[in-house]
Amino acid sequence: MAELHNRRWILHRRPEGLVTLADIELREEPLGTLKPGEVLIRNHYLSIDPAIRDWMSDRPSYLPSIPLGEVVRSTSLGEVIESHHPAFKAGDLAVGVNGWEDYSIASGDQLMPVQPLAGEAEQYFLSIYGAVGLTAYFGLLEKGRPQPGETVLVSAAAGAVGSLVGQIARLKGCRAVGIAGSEEKCRWIVDELGFDAAINYRTSANLQDAIRESCPDGVDVYFDNVGGEVLDAALMTLNKNARIVFCGAISGYNSQQPVPGPYNFWQILARTVTLEGFLVSDYFARFPEAIAQVRQWLAEGKIVFREQVVDGLEHCLDTFNLLFEGANNGKLIVRINSLPQASGGSGLRRDQLNHATAASALAATQEETR
Ligand SMILES: NC(=O)c1ccc[n+]([C@@H]2O[C@H](COP(=O)([O-])OP(=O)(O)OC[C@H]3O[C@@H](n4cnc5c(N)ncnc54)[C@H](OP(=O)(O)O)[C@@H]3O)[C@@H](O)[C@H]2O)c1
Repeated sequence: MAELHNRRWILHRRPEGLVTLADIELREEPLGTLKPGEVLIRNHYLSIDPAIRDWMSDRPSYLPSIPLGEVVRSTSLGEVIESHHPAFKAGDLAVGVNGWEDYSIASGDQLMPVQPLAGEAEQYFLSIYGAVGLTAYFGLLEKGRPQPGETVLVSAAAGAVGSLVGQIARLKGCRAVGIAGSEEKCRWIVDELGFDAAINYRTSANLQDAIRESCPDGVDVYFDNVGGEVLDAALMTLNKNARIVFCGAISGYNSQQPVPGPYNFWQILARTVTLEGFLVSDYFARFPEAIAQVRQWLAEGKIVFREQVVDGLEHCLDTFNLLFEGANNGKLIVRINSLPQASGGSGLRRDQLNHATAASALAATQEETR
């Protein structure tokens, strides 16, 4: 095989605040060779997730920090080019925790084979059938344990995970109320997704009052994606024995100061609330069951989801930062639509990266699926 060159986003400094080109850099490097048990994948799609910000820091977390000098870690979906693992052959599609790069070399034991059905886009396995859809499914059903007639409140409700949480809550017979950051997002989740009510946290004069108004019977399940002031307001509206699904805390991911705990933490005791941390990876063995259910809901037209697909590996950073501005509309995915030449590999100049603006990323494909 001709020598392949690989463009890779390398972490070379721990970010403080929003990630910039001073923290990560797109480099072109020769591709290594495969060891026994490894698989070479040509990535088609990269998943752009808030959690990547956590992995770039040196805080203790559920995965080790990305080492300095290594590729920015992310889930990717691609095609097997060469396999030294018995479970994969050239042409197979696989998903794994790889990186923001054209090609990945991964242990076959760490990859999940995927087979889209006719009419299904490959990248569904990074969105509705990937960490996003399965987080909503397991997080709500296993940790939230919603009962018919209960009220489910979710933050970042127009986002990839949140938009599905509200719809699954409705399918389970609950009142679904979403908190989101713009009028357009609030309209979308009520008019298109069937949420019972939506609250714009950016314009509400008093978020606690707004939640009480939209949840007249109180909140039984709070699915938290953001933490911070929104969590504090939600804590004051919970019913006795409510459940909080601690899924994420995006409001603090770029904080340069220690993030304070919730001021209203005492309400956990006062209202005998169960607060549980959730990690979708803990449910890996049950992914097939969840994919089958979500696939059925999609086929029956019971759920809708949005993907925002941005073309070009060089746009990973700008696309990533959309998450923290609330400028994404649905699950963010980067599609790799061109590859470096098989020879040369002199490295990209900084000006060639043409650091894309959020506006150009937003101009990218946005797809809504029902
Ligand atoms: N535990 C797990 O296994 C797991 C798996 C997947 C995702 N997650 C977590 O789930 C959450 C949602 O992830 P996602 O991929 O679905 O992203 P997303 O909701 O599609 O996008 C992030 C959204 O967060 C909101 N946001 C950003 N900064 C905020 C702030 N300072 N305060 C309040 N809201 C803010 C923005 O929406 P607005 O315009 O509404 O502000 C933004 O669009 C994240 O916290 C992520 O870490 C956890």
